[in-house]
This record gives sequence, C-alpha cells and structure tokens, in this order.
Amino acid sequence: MADLVRFGVSINEDLLHKFDNLIVHKGYNNRSEAIRDLIRNQLVEFEWENENEEVAGTITLIYNHHVRGLSDLLVELQHDFYELILSTMHMHLDHYNCLEVLAVKGIAKDVRRLAERLISVKGVKHGRLTITSTGKNLT
Ligand code: NI
Repeated sequence: MADLVRFGVSINEDLLHKFDNLIVHKGYNNRSEAIRDLIRNQLVEFEWENENEEVAGTITLIYNHHVRGLSDLLVELQHDFYELILSTMHMHLDHYNCLEVLAVKGIAKDVRRLAERLISVKGVKHGRLTITSTGKNLT
C-alpha cells in the first residue's frame, strides 16, 4: 500500500453535518473511506471521459424473449463485439422476461457503442451501462 497522507479540508459546518449523516446512512465507519470513495468515483468517471482509456463495466438488459427474432439479434450483436465481452449471465425472471448481464472490458468508446447498440434494440425494455474501472489506476 502506498504511503498515507493526511490533509485538512475547510468545509461549511452544515455541509459536513449533511455529509456525516449521509455516510452513516450508507454504512461507512469513518469519513476517510467515504472521501476516498468519492475521489475514486471521480477518477473512474474521468477515465470514461477519455474515450481511448481501457475501462470495465457491466451492461444490464431486460427483455421479453417471446419478441420475434429478439434473442437471435442480441446474440448476433454480442458476437460482433465478442472481444469486449468477458462473460454473460442470463436469468429467466418469469415466463416472458429475461435479465441479461454482460461483463465488459475494453476501450471506453467501444464499450459505450456496444451498450448503445444493445439497449436501443427494439424489444429491450430497459438497459443500463454501469461504468467502473479496470482498477489499474486506482489504489
Ligand atoms: Ni430467459
């Protein structure tokens, strides 16, 4: 682990009070870890702003597999982008609805494009790209 550095922050008392309430609610034991997570979130978002950065994430899709041709089209698209897809998990939520989660890793702009292509397919009821990091640039 890299050396720890302490630093002071000037902050409005009311704002700090709200922050403390928030982090207790979220389950943090102390401010330091909450602040480290805030910083990491900002760093990850910044990685995704650089569209040539290597990133990781998940794509979540909800769709009705009874829609004609839909399952085939989603598989077809995934084969077109197979180099970005680490793994997929398919769950049958009920008689009609499927939940599919794709773990993805690649260049930010490619991953985003894959997510947009899948989510925009007619018949996909809801889709979301969750962005995270490969972890290489985080401590
Ligand atoms: Ni299914």
